[in-house]
Amino acid sequence: MENVIETKNLTKYYGRFFWKKPVPALSNLTLNIPMGAVFGFLGPNGAGKTTTIKLLMDLIKPSEGEALILGCPPENVEIKKQIGFLPDEPVFSSYLSANEFLNICAKLLGVPSGERKARIAEVLEIVKMTKHAKSKLGGFSRGMVQRIGIAQAILNHPKLLILDEPLVGLDPHGRHELKNIILHQKSKGTSVFFCSHILSDVETICDHLGILNEGNLLCTGKIGDLLKDTGVSLHISPGHDEIARELLAEASETVKLPDGGWNLTFLNNKEVKETLLRVREKHKNAVTMIPAKENLEKFFFRTIENAKTNN
Ligand SMILES: Nc1ncnc2c1ncn2[C@@H]1O[C@H](COP(=O)(O)OP(=O)(O)OP(=O)(O)O)[C@@H](O)[C@H]1O
Ligand SMILES: [Mg+2]
Repeated sequence: MENVIETKNLTKYYGRFFWKKPVPALSNLTLNIPMGAVFGFLGPNGAGKTTTIKLLMDLIKPSEGEALILGCPPENVEIKKQIGFLPDEPVFSSYLSANEFLNICAKLLGVPSGERKARIAEVLEIVKMTKHAKSKLGGFSRGMVQRIGIAQAILNHPKLLILDEPLVGLDPHGRHELKNIILHQKSKGTSVFFCSHILSDVETICDHLGILNEGNLLCTGKIGDLLKDTGVSLHISPGHDEIARELLAEASETVKLPDGGWNLTFLNNKEVKETLLRVREKHKNAVTMIPAKENLEKFFFRTIENAKTNN
């Protein structure tokens, strides 16, 4: 199987009434997400991200089109056991302790009874909630509930993780830990599909992304292929200030690094590029050249703005 998620013309209308002009919440979504990818799904509020996730999780039915998850339609019960899911705004029974709740989840997911206790302790440790194992969920903060939500999502060693706004409510440590959890899952071969509004985090975690706007997919692909080359970056090793000084005037951005080295960024320009190549040739051991890319935030706004002007 090549793709972990495939959708073809997936379309969703909510409450279609004959007196209302129908506006789809999701329109003809066609996506192919390769196995093992960490896919970030971006888009403004109301773009249709949660709708897509609900369709993938079989919580709502499509008006048109189809989806395949791990090669099967979303209603396949066996496939559900291989998916870890974190809904947006998770609400769990407030009378259960974290342990009791995760035990119910483990039973539902078919974790063998002999393994449940150890696995629950393991996931509580991963989300740094061990000391709250016996506390009732009703007394948890938003971020603590989110951590328990993440714990239940990874409980069954899923092949695919589907997370709706997983970074919401987490403090800086929590965000950092979640990024590590996602990267660890990826290293084990788990594919991840998640929505987020925190572009800097998406940029560090994802290798693939899609941008949705008003129900329409504006672009999708590998992050490296989507972000525009904006020029070139030059790293100069410590102790070579004379090389940096020679180039400072031409650079669009200059950063002196704490170790005494330099990072200089240059805009795309043929003459500058020729100078840089010459400098690199002359100081092979002190200079590294890397293509500079626009950041995800710039790309995101550019894509959304283009969609507005083309409408
Ligand atoms: N149950 C529903 N009934 C009617 N309309 C709905 C329903 N759920 C969502 N919508 C509409 O569908 C559109 C897409 O909503 P969706 O929740 O998928 O957006 P989203 O991209 O997840 O937004 P956010 O970033 O705010 O979470 C919105 O216009 C929303 O009003
Ligand atoms: Mg949403």
